[in-house]
Amino acid sequence: MANSTAKLELGGENREYEVLEGTVGPDVINIASLYRDTGMFTYDPGFTSTASCESQITYIDGDEGTLLHRGYPIEQLADHGDFLEVCYLLLYGELPTKAQKEDFDYRVTRHTMLHEQMSRFFTGFRRDAHPMAVMCGMVGALSAFYHDSTDISDPHQRMVASIRMIAKMPTIAAMAYKYHIGQPFIYPRNELSYAANFLHMCFAVPCEEYHVNPVLARAMDRIFILHADHEQNASTSTVRLAGSSGANPFACIAAGIACLWGPAHGGANEAALNMLAEIGTVDRIPEYIDRAKDRDDPFRLMGFGHRVYKNYDPRAKIMQKTTHEVLGELGIKDDPQLDVALELERIALTDEYFIEKKLYPNIDFYSGITLRALGFPTTMFTVLFALARTVGWIAQWKEMIEDPNQKIGRPRQLYTGATQRDYVSIANR
Ligand code: CMC
Repeated sequence: MANSTAKLELGGENREYEVLEGTVGPDVINIASLYRDTGMFTYDPGFTSTASCESQITYIDGDEGTLLHRGYPIEQLADHGDFLEVCYLLLYGELPTKAQKEDFDYRVTRHTMLHEQMSRFFTGFRRDAHPMAVMCGMVGALSAFYHDSTDISDPHQRMVASIRMIAKMPTIAAMAYKYHIGQPFIYPRNELSYAANFLHMCFAVPCEEYHVNPVLARAMDRIFILHADHEQNASTSTVRLAGSSGANPFACIAAGIACLWGPAHGGANEAALNMLAEIGTVDRIPEYIDRAKDRDDPFRLMGFGHRVYKNYDPRAKIMQKTTHEVLGELGIKDDPQLDVALELERIALTDEYFIEKKLYPNIDFYSGITLRALGFPTTMFTVLFALARTVGWIAQWKEMIEDPNQKIGRPRQLYTGATQRDYVSIANR
């Protein structure tokens, strides 16, 4: 990292802070000693200008609409790779050789079953529980079952925990779904690919044969690839913050799942599809566009806008292609929600408000339509996002634990509350 400096003049005193250069992307001003030097903090709600860590995993150029994992463009990974190859890349930093890939696939596949006792946990949930609530609880519970991979100071245990989570997440997600709809759990089938096995666990029933459609399995795999990692987003930062205290990886991923659930983050695909259903027909779009522009109306076009992308989300383009492939394969010609989506996209891309604010469709705009066509209810959408994002969370968590400069995360605040005052007894208040 080549260094230059940034000058800060404060109270008549000049100070210099080093400017760190990444391999690509904005430089950062290292203000780690600012408080020591000046007694002041920086103030940046929502971290819009703050780099919270150094990372070598994922790079996003939001202005260009570029997403790279370990340097490889998402388009190339989605076109040529499979999800487990991307998992290997995120975890180990390089694409696997053929032998490494076979070994990795084997290791993941051999961890797909859940401890049998865990299956009884599901029955503790109300059957109308949201599957995200179930998933959050089940992933947290993994730490109660796999004690032999919770010692974060042991690199071997860290990798075992990572593989276990990638392997077991589809099983937990599918079981949450089956419990939700009242069908028996389907055990993993290790001869199937990662995505095909997941579809099988979701849609097979014990009373008949179920063959996974390879086109749909490929689409599912691509959806997993598109969601695998996205640098320091809210849930990943949550995982890092939770992990910075030394918490075990299963607990950290449960924290990430909780954060992902929100409609401004992973819950947006569910919200986007609900919005398309609410709009209903193309003629009602202008009404919703007007509402989105109205500052007094809290309504936002779900699936539009992104903190980092001020251009077309590259994942949304691949997702749109996948949507058409899935609808084509299933012979769905007239999908009213797809009609509304296409027209909404067309109008928003030509509307001055959206152009000026650089609001483009994000990945969630199309993923909901695709997932619904694959047969998933909207309540499962964020669960699928969590399943795929687990590898990103765990790769970022590992990177943090292995960083010699890692410290517990402890943001500061601008306090605007009451100053010190004396307690008043309840009778005198
Ligand atoms: N519809 C209408 N106006 C919007 C939208 C939208 N979807 N998104 C942002 N704006 C406006 C916003 O009102 C604000 O206007 P003004 O400057 O007049 O106050 C301006 O654009 C900037 O918005 P912001 O809220 O300051 O931007 P942010 O970076 O804090 O928020 C976001 C990013 C993703 C939370 C937001 O765009 C949003 O709420 N989008 C809808 C939810 C969504 O689709 N989320 C999925 C994100 S992609 C998947 C993931 O990473 O989880």
